[in-house]
Amino acid sequence: MDRSDLKYNEITKNVFAVGAEDWDRQIFDELVPLPDGTSYNSYLVMGSEKTALIDTVDPEKKEDLINHLEKLNVQKIDYIIANHAEQDHSGAIPDILKLYPEAKVVTNKKCKNLLMDLLHLEEDVFTVVADEEELSLGDKTLQFILTPWVHWPETMTTYLKEDEVLFSCDFFGSHRATSKLFVYDDCKVLEDAKRYYAEIMMPYRKFITKNIDKVEKNPIRFIAPSHGPIFDKPSLIIDAYKDWVSPRVENKILIPYVSMHESTEIMANYLVKRFTEHGINVIPFNLTNADMGVMAMELVDAATIIVGSPIVLNGAHPLAVNAAYLTNALNPKVRQVSVFGSFGWGGKMIKQFEFLLGDLKAEFVEPVLVKGLPKEDAFEKLDVLIEKIVALHKDLE
Ligand code: FEO
Repeated sequence: MDRSDLKYNEITKNVFAVGAEDWDRQIFDELVPLPDGTSYNSYLVMGSEKTALIDTVDPEKKEDLINHLEKLNVQKIDYIIANHAEQDHSGAIPDILKLYPEAKVVTNKKCKNLLMDLLHLEEDVFTVVADEEELSLGDKTLQFILTPWVHWPETMTTYLKEDEVLFSCDFFGSHRATSKLFVYDDCKVLEDAKRYYAEIMMPYRKFITKNIDKVEKNPIRFIAPSHGPIFDKPSLIIDAYKDWVSPRVENKILIPYVSMHESTEIMANYLVKRFTEHGINVIPFNLTNADMGVMAMELVDAATIIVGSPIVLNGAHPLAVNAAYLTNALNPKVRQVSVFGSFGWGGKMIKQFEFLLGDLKAEFVEPVLVKGLPKEDAFEKLDVLIEKIVALHKDLE
């Protein structure tokens, strides 16, 4: 099947999905694993007088977008709405402007400045809009709602008033290539969306809370994000986001660890066994082959993270450093953190982790560092660590 034929569907009258599926993409920002590919959703809104294209696609997939516009016989685009300057949505704007030179790029001031930097667009192609400003397409009206920090400072959403469609760009999105236009499996889509939220939205959850309130002021029939399927039951994703940004944590402990000669692994296995006996959901991640996207997703509501590492090259193992750095950057709502591991002749590992995890608003529980292969006293120290952490988890219940 020609992949370009998969998606140029009508969502509601004269509103079409014209974006592209990227079935083969495996990584985003050279950081985020994409086990199921992704999509770059672009939408065409045809009013009685004017036509608007809402976001474009990654430049790699511009031909798909252009094909879809040709198949819909789009002769004129009056407005290209740029909800977000990141290139997976804006990158094909120069190509669309070449095909439709009369089009104006409609966006907010911050996004305009970023687009001029990132795409070298000239200032005169822009129409700058303010928060809640409206743009008439004839029988359809677009309203622009600034929603900063989901996940860049310039992000905004576009609301189609008559049809009650919220074009939310990255907000409420998920990385998955699919030929299905609408949500087809609530559990699967929520898992994709949670992973996506964890990877790029979680650090900004205070802003997200405000932005949910802001977009919810309008009645919403569809949420049409720029990655993943469209929500025809918006409460599914809005309620999930409300939970993810809330202070609630689950009775869950994450144990990312790396081990060179089994000592740290023995400690990790002991922690997993003992926490399981206490009825806690404990998830180990062997960092030599762990999917960091899954770890990020589990961080959304984990109460505790305990990082395990041997000392190598006078400090923490680089894989454990990466996990700690990422955890700190994602700013999850964990309540407790700690560290465990093994060493042969010393090093500065604990201080490194205190620094690496230093931005978390969490209690740093006394770490356990043992010399060589763990002996009885090592397990006694681990028992003290376990006791402290279990006490917090009992409070959660
Ligand atoms: Fe999907 Fe922030 O770009």
